[in-house]
Amino acid sequence: MSKQVEKIKTLVEKREQARLGGGLKAIEKQHARGKYTARERIDMLVDEGSFEEYDMFKLHQCHNFGMEKKQILGDGVVTGSATIDGRLVYVYAQDFTVNGGSLSLTMAQKICKIMDLAMQNGAPIICMNDSGGARIQEGICALAGYGEIFERNILASGVVPQISAILGPCAGGAVYSPALTDFIFMSERTSYMFLTGPKVVKTVTGEDIDAEHLGGASVHATKSGVTHFTAKNDTEVLALIKTLLSYLPSNNTEEAPRLQNEDPINRTSDLLNEILPDDPNQAYNMYKVIGEITDNGEFFEVQPKFAKNLITGFARFNGQSVGIVANQPQAYAGVLDTNASRKGARFVRFCDAFNIPIVSLVDVPGFLPGTGQEYNAVILHGAQLLYAYGEATVPKITITLRKSYGGSHIVMGCKQLRSDLNFAWPTAEIAVMGASGAVAVLSAKEAKMKKEAGEDVRAFLAEKEEEYTNLFANPYQAAQYGYIDDVIEPRNTRFRICRGLAQLAHKRQQLPAKKHGCMPM
Ligand code: HXC
Repeated sequence: MSKQVEKIKTLVEKREQARLGGGLKAIEKQHARGKYTARERIDMLVDEGSFEEYDMFKLHQCHNFGMEKKQILGDGVVTGSATIDGRLVYVYAQDFTVNGGSLSLTMAQKICKIMDLAMQNGAPIICMNDSGGARIQEGICALAGYGEIFERNILASGVVPQISAILGPCAGGAVYSPALTDFIFMSERTSYMFLTGPKVVKTVTGEDIDAEHLGGASVHATKSGVTHFTAKNDTEVLALIKTLLSYLPSNNTEEAPRLQNEDPINRTSDLLNEILPDDPNQAYNMYKVIGEITDNGEFFEVQPKFAKNLITGFARFNGQSVGIVANQPQAYAGVLDTNASRKGARFVRFCDAFNIPIVSLVDVPGFLPGTGQEYNAVILHGAQLLYAYGEATVPKITITLRKSYGGSHIVMGCKQLRSDLNFAWPTAEIAVMGASGAVAVLSAKEAKMKKEAGEDVRAFLAEKEEEYTNLFANPYQAAQYGYIDDVIEPRNTRFRICRGLAQLAHKRQQLPAKKHGCMPM
């Protein structure tokens, strides 16, 4: 064997060794937990044969606690570039088989390298997290490593899409970096996110709680709103990531890929002409409306289990990717509250940052009143949604289906927040407040006098409410002032949106020169 061939053999052996990560036993343990290894996950995510790994031979530099004897090629993260559906992405996957995927300075350097490349080349960053956080043996160096990653997460925000998959128990820095990214996915039952694990919680607060109830996928999907998507296992999470990417551009200077569309843009929907119940206080399902108007009825929902009163997600009109924001009358009558507001605000801002037009479907009776909301800063959270809509310069089309009252009317993409096209169904009710609330304020004195005079107050109030309803509970008052551009037949909604998007294809709108705004938070 020539020296050259011998050296090539050594390279092949080293590669094989690196590919084993923490070793066969640790891999078996990972599989037994229903999880895949870092390399298996990357293989499942990217186009076959497209992954190009970097820093496979990099080693950690720690000499504390006997770590110098625990050296594994590549340390606890696999990093590199690849393509997904032919588009360039940068990926990294933490390897739990190596010191529980805990972050060393070396790992941070590897991760930062590909984050820098993603920024330079305008490609999304996808991270697969399975890590116990900062590597305890490395002390401040591990923290410094996280600091470097966080800074890059912040700099990349709004420049390239950043997507995090949580595929194991993640703590400390391993949850803060994902929190700085645009979308978080979690696998059910095998992934957890918490700043500190159950043992630390027990020590500090005395609270007895298991990992699932402290930071499982269900908790973050329904209660905290930290995660945007959950799926049964690694495989399903990775498949969902690919679907999400199909709706997104690779960076903030590009448009999302436009798909070939076979669904006629002038397809009408008779169902929409009959979808609203006669009783304005009765609910209907907004998902049905969405399904009637989007290309092939498809809708990729973001945060489906959190703040169900506001639906957010991606769809296409004539092949063009859009973000849909819609009130859901079936959940708390579609009212806006703290959670719905912050969910909507974040989504709208993402769409605006990445040139994705926003279509709003409005049926909102108002903001939820009460101490529960006020104490949780509904004023600030509502203002976030307001700010997000008002700041967004992407094409904005608002369709008012039914109710649009008070502050929530303004917040949900009204004309004055620089919405481009505002259409209303003939059933729209656009006013300061609903009839009963308005009459209770406006006619209180008169009602009191009538009561004292022994007159029929109920009949009086009913009459006043009817007068108010006739005057305000329609779209024509708003249309009279040009606040609604047109009152449209519901069946034509898809066509009007498609045509509107075509008109707005080259929209240019600027914000005043500034470093950045101070969004209420
Ligand atoms: C070094 C770690 C580690 C860590 C896990 N390991 N976390 N090594 N530093 N942070 C090692 C374990 O010692 C073990 O090594 C192997 O990884 C697998 O861990 P297990 O505990 O056996 O696995 P499991 O029972 O599944 O529990 C996983 C876990 C738990 C929930 C992640 O390990 C854990 O609670 N780790 C600490 C989490 C934490 O508090 N992190 C915060 C760090 S501070 P062996 O050799 O036995 O196989 C931080 C601050 C950053 O991140 C800044 C934030 C802003």
